[in-house]
Amino acid sequence: VNLCGANTFGLPSTAATLVRIRSPQDVRRVVDHPVYGVARKLILGGGSNLLLTRNLDEVVLSIEIDGIRVVEDGPDATLIEAGAGVVWHDLVRWTLDHGHAGLENLALIPGTVGAAPVQNIGAYGLEVGERIATVHGVDLITGRAVEITRDQCRFGYRDSIFKRELAGKTVITHVRFRLPKPWQPVLGYQDLERRCQETGIAQPDARTIFDWVCDIRRAKLPDPAQIGNAGSFFKNPVVTAEQCRDITGRDPHLVFYPLDDGHCKLAAGWLIDACGWKGKSLGRAGVHPRQALVLVNLGGATGGEVLTLARAIQESVYGRFGIRLEPEPVVV
Ligand code: EPU
Repeated sequence: VNLCGANTFGLPSTAATLVRIRSPQDVRRVVDHPVYGVARKLILGGGSNLLLTRNLDEVVLSIEIDGIRVVEDGPDATLIEAGAGVVWHDLVRWTLDHGHAGLENLALIPGTVGAAPVQNIGAYGLEVGERIATVHGVDLITGRAVEITRDQCRFGYRDSIFKRELAGKTVITHVRFRLPKPWQPVLGYQDLERRCQETGIAQPDARTIFDWVCDIRRAKLPDPAQIGNAGSFFKNPVVTAEQCRDITGRDPHLVFYPLDDGHCKLAAGWLIDACGWKGKSLGRAGVHPRQALVLVNLGGATGGEVLTLARAIQESVYGRFGIRLEPEPVVV
């Protein structure tokens, strides 16, 4: 099976075996299968957080579980369940169309519902972990149903138990979201604050925030349907306050966010930009001209070419700032 259209970077790769998963029962069938049951597996959602550098001999499980429903509409919150194969942005739109606000800051993030808790997707002041009640899946060894509560997910910045202990062990089949009532807008992020000032709308409703986020993203981030990419290619590095002071001493324009525990999160896009990478390319892999944190496929790039560019960027950022950038997508 050709996977070029199944990863948003548009990188060439094939899967020897691809199984379409449309229900938790389908996962159990794979577990019970004499050949696939014991084979190595790779779980594929929207392919938007993936850097494929080779053809896959693993059994690829393509997660295509559909459906969105309101489980409970209580006085304190609405509980909504979505299948892991639902396109993330479709869920955000569906909730707003049905009068359930709370996910609007996460509009237009590429990928699927099932992938959202894995890397705890976040943007514009909100992380999905703050809106998750439980994650439901099937254990790939035993075939048993598993339910993981929000606390058990151990959400961190672009991190969760699904990237660690449960990596490759549990197939997420459904996610339940808890949207608290009354709804409170999340407006702390600088780009949204600026919109409030520019428009004079001090208290935007959820639909307005949704529109603003879509606008901001479309202006800065390349649409994977037009130019292959996997969103931010590196995580924003977290450093000690001392390291941060050290850098601002030399580069007063450094963009950073102080964290509650005294550490600082640095804008990796700024670091890469400061090293002169914005708009540059190596082979057919490039750095996006409007957001240096996003690497793009200029047309026909291989995963190897993207990795080469990524390493060159890591080296120059390390050379100038002494900071090691960590890739965000899963490199296969
Ligand atoms: N900046 C530059 N040059 C650049 C890019 C950014 O100077 O080329 C500066 C900007 O001026 C800004 C700061 O860096 O002051 C932060 O930039 P931005 O608001 O675009 O956010 P980011 O930190 O680069 C993170 C997430 C994005 C998310 C945005 C908004 C990570 C790795 N990335 O990017 O998530 O949309 O914040 O919340 O945390 C993703 O994960 O794929 C993703 C797109």
